[in-house]
Amino acid sequence: IKKITTHQLQEMKNRGEKIAMLTAYDYSMARIIDSGGIDVILVGDSASNVMAGHETTLPITLDQMIYHAASVVRAVERALVVVDLPFGTYQGSSGEALRSSIRIMKESGAHAVKLEGGSEVKESVIRILSAGIPVMGHLGLTPQSIYKFGTYTVRAKEEAEAKKLVEDAKMLEECGCFGVVLEKIPAKLAAEVSKSIRIPTIGIGAGPDVDGQVLVMQDMLGITQEFKPRFLRRYADLNNIINGAVKQYVSDVKAKDFPNQDEKY
Ligand code: KIV
Ligand code: NA
Repeated sequence: IKKITTHQLQEMKNRGEKIAMLTAYDYSMARIIDSGGIDVILVGDSASNVMAGHETTLPITLDQMIYHAASVVRAVERALVVVDLPFGTYQGSSGEALRSSIRIMKESGAHAVKLEGGSEVKESVIRILSAGIPVMGHLGLTPQSIYKFGTYTVRAKEEAEAKKLVEDAKMLEECGCFGVVLEKIPAKLAAEVSKSIRIPTIGIGAGPDVDGQVLVMQDMLGITQEFKPRFLRRYADLNNIINGAVKQYVSDVKAKDFPNQDEKY
């Protein structure tokens, strides 16, 4: 199997092929989505919510991210594996950002890191890239800044924030990032950004005119139930399927139907 590289993502944008990206945090699920043909797997800090049940992405640690990332890497044969730098591991200084990124690369075997923000993290982006580690940006609704925003609503609806976002995207491109996630911004702005930079943009709640799409796997599979933003398309109702299977199992055990004559030694 031919592995996906950051260069291939650039070629996909060049020829107009959309990039498909999903999150994964564990070996079993990563295996399934890798064999399903996903281009990029993001070990997102959304693991903080989806895996650990925290209300925000802030509590997850670098050690925990590395554990998730190493599990995913062991499963993947084809996809590019990108790992989120968690809150507090890259904002302090570019040296800290580089050390955190090196730990992710060495200890998990992942292929790239992602971090949130624009001009605020420019020095960190440059420093990580200078070590030969591919970096993906993340602009718009950046969940690590939720307490600054105060709400999870659409970002960059006003001109000043939109203008900064366009400048930040250009800056990330100039620094040498291989792509940028655009989260929950107006489709028109996302389209404008995607046209004005050469590197691929990956949208989540950013409309169709971006170079790829990303969703949290547990959301698109219908495992998480309460989270229903407009941008989320559900491709399966696994919550119901799993719940039904568990009910059947409980009832079979209670009824002494399981195990049967064939299901024993
Ligand atoms: O952590 C995450 O899942 C993400 C994606 C939603 C882009 O950053
Ligand atoms: Na994230």
